[in-house]
Amino acid sequence: MKLIFATHNEHKLKEVKQLLSTTPFEIQGLSEIGYHTEIIEDGITMAENASIKSRTVHKALNAHVFSDDSGLEIEALDMRPGVHTARFAGPQKDAHDNMDKVLRLLQNERNRKARFKAVFSLIIENKEHSFEGIVNGSIAEEKQGLDGFGYDPIFIPEGYTDTFAQLPASVKNEISHRANAVRQLCKFLETYK
Ligand code: IMP
Repeated sequence: MKLIFATHNEHKLKEVKQLLSTTPFEIQGLSEIGYHTEIIEDGITMAENASIKSRTVHKALNAHVFSDDSGLEIEALDMRPGVHTARFAGPQKDAHDNMDKVLRLLQNERNRKARFKAVFSLIIENKEHSFEGIVNGSIAEEKQGLDGFGYDPIFIPEGYTDTFAQLPASVKNEISHRANAVRQLCKFLETYK
């Protein structure tokens, strides 16, 4: 079965394809199917944004589709940036600007607890289903590591001393918020058939 992943983010697509590689589903990203229209994510929660993306693509293509929205919630910042994670430091959506802003706001802050959240929205046979995954952790004192994307160099998952950007992709793919949500998605798709 073909499933469209409504994302233009090539890093996420690669991660999710790896996560679903043991399933019989063929995952295609938006660039692969030539869908280049930008989707305006103006929801006020991650769940709403995920829904907006899957509904928009489903409406345009009438195909099986899923999407995700994800973000970082930092306890000492009242769970910000949350839904504003991608553009926390401005519309340029620059990962280093975003991380620098977090590190600046947490300077001298002892509570560095944070979590990544991912919400997936799946539309299959005209019904929508949603799945949520979380990984708890903390914000590092400085950027460490080169792998991954986004805020990976400053996020240390619970139970580890390295950031997501230092840990092997295989570890991140086992414990991440997205892995968590995708496992639920997988389970659902398996029982669905
Ligand atoms: P969106 O889900 O594409 O809207 O992305 C939300 C923001 O969260 C982006 O700035 C991403 O870089 C960031 N983000 C989401 N998942 C991860 C992750 O696994 N590692 C690092 N940053 C992430």
